[in-house]
Amino acid sequence: MASVPASASPPVGGATRVVGILGDPVAHSRSPAMHNAAFAALGLDWVYVPFHVLPAALPDAVAGLRALGVTGCNVTVPHKEAVVPLLDDLSPAAAAIGAVNTVVAAEGRLVGHNTDGEGFSRALHEAHRFRAERSRALILGAGGSARAVGDQLAREGIPAIRISNRTESKARALADHLRRHHPDCEVKVLPWSPLDHRAAINWAELIVNTTRVGLAAGDPSPIDPNGISPGHIVVDLVYGRETAFLAACRAVRARCLDGLPMLLHQGALAFTLWTGKEAPLEVMRAALQVP
Ligand code: ATR
Repeated sequence: MASVPASASPPVGGATRVVGILGDPVAHSRSPAMHNAAFAALGLDWVYVPFHVLPAALPDAVAGLRALGVTGCNVTVPHKEAVVPLLDDLSPAAAAIGAVNTVVAAEGRLVGHNTDGEGFSRALHEAHRFRAERSRALILGAGGSARAVGDQLAREGIPAIRISNRTESKARALADHLRRHHPDCEVKVLPWSPLDHRAAINWAELIVNTTRVGLAAGDPSPIDPNGISPGHIVVDLVYGRETAFLAACRAVRARCLDGLPMLLHQGALAFTLWTGKEAPLEVMRAALQVP
C-alpha cells in the first residue's frame, strides 16, 4: 500500500472548512495549489476549491457563499469590482482601491478586503531595492489590478503616477479616484499612443503592466519597449509565462519582475485573514514554483 506523505491534507470531512476562488476563467489558477499546500503544512482541516462563476451569476454565487457557510474566498478577474456592492462591509484598503480580491465571512457578514496592493509591494521590495518616495511610475491598464497598484504606490508616498489605458475613460476614472484618496500624489492620464508611451518611459523609473496583454501565448508587448534601460524596474503582472514585454525588458537588462511573487504575497495575506495564522510562505512559494 502506498504511504501517505506526512504533509498530506487531512481527508475532507464533516468539519472541513471551505474557501475558494471565484473567477472566469479559473481553471488556470495556481491559488488552489498554493493554499492547499499551506493548509496541509499547518495541518489545518481546510480545503480551497475553484469556482467558475460567469459574470451574470456573481450575485447568486455570493448568496451561495452565505447560504453554504463558506469561510471566505478569493475573487479574481473579472469580478473584483463587481463584487463590491454585494458585500456587507469593506476593509479600508478595499474601499480605497474600489476592488476586492479576498472575502472573509465572519458572524454572518461578508467583508471584502484587498491584499493585491500589499502583495505587489512585498513582491517588489523582496526582489528589488525600490524607494517609492524617490520614484515615478507608469501604470499600463486601468482595471482592478491597476487600482491596487496605483493605490499602493500612492500610499507609499510615490510623488507622481502616469496612467495609460486603451480605454481612456477608465484611466481618467482611476486617476480621479487616486487623486481623491491621495491628494499629494500627482496623477495624470496619458493617451494610449506610442509617442506618449515613449515619453513616459523616459520619465518613469517604475513601469507596471497590469493589462491582460501577455496572458495568451503569442501576445505582443502591450507597448513598444524602446527606451527601457537597466535603470528601470519593470513589473508585468502576468504570471506563468515570460511575456514578450518582460523578455524585451530583460534583454536590455532592466530589473524585471513577473506576477508570480505578487500572487504569492497576496495569497499569504489572504491566508492570514482567513485563518488568523502566519502563512507558511516558503511552502506556498514552492507550491507556486516561485524561484
Ligand atoms: P484586472 O483585474 O486584472 O486589472 P481587468 O479589470 O479586466 O483585469 O482589466 C484588464 C486591463 O487590461 C484593462 O486595463 C484593459 O483595457 P480596457 O480598459 O481598454 O479594456 C486591458 N486590456 C485588455 N486587453 C487589452 C489589449 N488588447 N490592449 C490593451 N489593453 C488591454
